[in-house]
Amino acid sequence: MASVTPGPRALDEALRQRSRRWLLTGSAGFIGSNLLEVLLRTGQSVVSIDSFATGHRRNLEQVCANVGAAAWARHRFIEGDIADPDTCRRACDGAEIVLHQAALGSVPRSINDPLATHRANATGFINMLVAAKDAAVGRFVFAASSSTYGDSPSLPKVEEVIGRPLSPYAVTKYLNELYAEVFHRCYGLQTIGLRYFNVFGPRQDPEGAYAAVIPRWVAAMLDGRACVINGDGETSRDFCYVDNAVQANLRAALVDDAQALGQVYNVAVGQRTTLLQLHGLIAEALRAERPGLEIAPPQFSDFRAGDVRHSLADVGRAGRLLGYAPTHDVRAGLSAAIRWYAQNL
Ligand SMILES: NC(=O)c1ccc[n+]([C@@H]2O[C@H](COP(=O)([O-])OP(=O)(O)OC[C@H]3O[C@@H](n4cnc5c(N)ncnc54)[C@H](O)[C@@H]3O)[C@@H](O)[C@H]2O)c1
Repeated sequence: MASVTPGPRALDEALRQRSRRWLLTGSAGFIGSNLLEVLLRTGQSVVSIDSFATGHRRNLEQVCANVGAAAWARHRFIEGDIADPDTCRRACDGAEIVLHQAALGSVPRSINDPLATHRANATGFINMLVAAKDAAVGRFVFAASSSTYGDSPSLPKVEEVIGRPLSPYAVTKYLNELYAEVFHRCYGLQTIGLRYFNVFGPRQDPEGAYAAVIPRWVAAMLDGRACVINGDGETSRDFCYVDNAVQANLRAALVDDAQALGQVYNVAVGQRTTLLQLHGLIAEALRAERPGLEIAPPQFSDFRAGDVRHSLADVGRAGRLLGYAPTHDVRAGLSAAIRWYAQNL
């Protein structure tokens, strides 16, 4: 595999030098569609799979429009469910690199319906691992989650210090890490897990009961509704713009240091923002897009079950072993994301 030199441009170049065969799961979703766009833009051949459980055809259509017909012709889409082993086998056939994003996100969803979360995130995950191993895939990069830190109070979060899971979703994401490590050990599958911390950006869904906080609040502000803060507003998160997550995936896919394999990495910025601060930052970015927009003060409701109180990543390991360096802090990310929402909502 090509070695990766620092800097997003160099990463693009490393991709453009050779077209590889990728399998991307969850391509109709938020992070998946952003990955698909970059892969197609940089000349890669991509098979992708999605069941539209939470993703949308409009995301694929937007990627197609953004990359153009010639790049889109290098993409083959499979509508299918990763809980079905045969579908996974079919999807992995011929793939060199898997970027596994498909899962049911959301802590509250998993509390309301743990079986559905288990089916997609646990059964679907081991199906993908087995299919990748049987197809002799070269690299298996997967979406892990900061929810694995559970009730551990230590900050910043370092990969080796985790607590007890606080939700069924967190159990499934930790299980993914355990299975990946064991597949690396038992079968030599080159796995890398990326513990995303509150990723946001274009195409993140603002609709539905399980929408993430940033798109939900942007939609509320654009509609003239008050945003609801669960808890006292001092809950904090390490909000990570999607380009940073895309960069981490590409670096994980291309890194050729054997030490980097069979590991998990925090993917975030290393910057902590409270929900109250976030409300102010979104309001500021929206006013820049829509001068004169009236924004109501936030309303407060109860803390949500299963939510972690504070989250802040140490991204040192990803920096050292993958060469990861976030390009967008929360303010720069919000301004890019909100420009997209202002044009697309
Ligand atoms: N967004 C975040 O902040 C965040 C944080 C931590 C981890 N993650 C993880 O990142 C990944 C992508 O998340 P996202 O935010 O893009 O969510 P998303 O819901 O936008 O995308 C997930 C995609 O997976 C698809 N999918 C779900 N179940 C499937 C199944 N059984 N078969 C085939 N496709 C299926 C959905 O239809 C959707 O398109 C997930 O694994 C998620 O757990 C996300």
